[in-house]
Amino acid sequence: MSQLGKNIKRTINNLTVSYNDEGPDGTPVIIFIHGFPFTKAMWNKQAEALKGNYRVIAYDIRGFGDSDAGKDNFSIDLFVNDLLSLMDALKIEKAIVCGLSMGGYIALNAIENYPERFSALILSDTTCTVDSAEAKEKRMNAIESIKQTGLEKYADESIKKLFAPESFTTKEIEIAIAREMIVKTSEQSLFNTLHALADRKETCNKLPEINVPVLILVGKEDVITPPDAARFMHEKIKHSKLYIIGHAGHLSNMENPLEFNDHLKKFIESVKSV
Ligand code: MLT
Repeated sequence: MSQLGKNIKRTINNLTVSYNDEGPDGTPVIIFIHGFPFTKAMWNKQAEALKGNYRVIAYDIRGFGDSDAGKDNFSIDLFVNDLLSLMDALKIEKAIVCGLSMGGYIALNAIENYPERFSALILSDTTCTVDSAEAKEKRMNAIESIKQTGLEKYADESIKKLFAPESFTTKEIEIAIAREMIVKTSEQSLFNTLHALADRKETCNKLPEINVPVLILVGKEDVITPPDAARFMHEKIKHSKLYIIGHAGHLSNMENPLEFNDHLKKFIESVKSV
C-alpha cells in the first residue's frame, strides 16, 4: 500500500522530490507534469476532479516547488529520468501521463523512450518542435534580464503572455497563483531550466509511432504553443483527439478548468474501458 497525501517527500536519483499522491489505490494512475516555471499546485483543480475515481499523482520537477534541484545539469532527458525513477520508486509499472507545455516535452520524450510504461497521453498547450534561433536568444536574454532587473519584473512580463487577455479580468486569483509560483522559484533553477528548454530535442518525427490513446488540449488564445502546434501533433498522431479550450491562453487547465476537466474525464473514462 503506497503512502497517500500531499507534499510527500521521497528520495530518487539522489534528490528529494515532493509529490501529491491521492485517490483510491488500485485504480488507474494519472501522473501530472507541470509547465515552466510552475509547480505541482497548477494541477490542483484537476486532482480535485479526478481523485474520487483515480489515483492522481502530481510532482514538482527538480528545482521547482518543494523538490530539490540536485547537482546534475538540467535537461529534458534528466527530467524524464526523474519521472521514471519516481514511477519505479512508487512501483507504478504503467501510467496515464498528462503534461502541460514543458510537462508535455517531458511526456513526449518519455513515451518515445519508454513506450511500455505509458497507457495513454494527454498533451496540453505543448509542442513537439524545438526552439527557433530567436526563441533560444529570448531565453538567454531572459537570464540576463533576471540578473539585472530581478524576478518580480520577469514574473510580470511572463504573466502577460501566459494568460488569455480576458483572464486578466476574470481569473485574477489564478494569475496571482501563477505569479507567486514564478517568484518563488530560485533564480538558479530558472537559469538551468531555460538552458534545458533551449537545448531540447524535437519529438515530431516519432509522433506517428505513438501507439496509445492521445488527447491534445490547447487554449484558444495560447500564444506560446498555439493551436496550430496542437493541430500539427494531432495530424501526426493516429487516433488522437484534439480540443481547443475556449476562454484560455497557455495555462488552459487553470483558466478554464471546467472545459479542461470535462475533456480529461471523458478521455480517461474511454481509455479505462479500452
Ligand atoms: C511552459 O509553460 O512550460 C513554457 O512555456 C515552456 C517553454 O518556455 O517552452
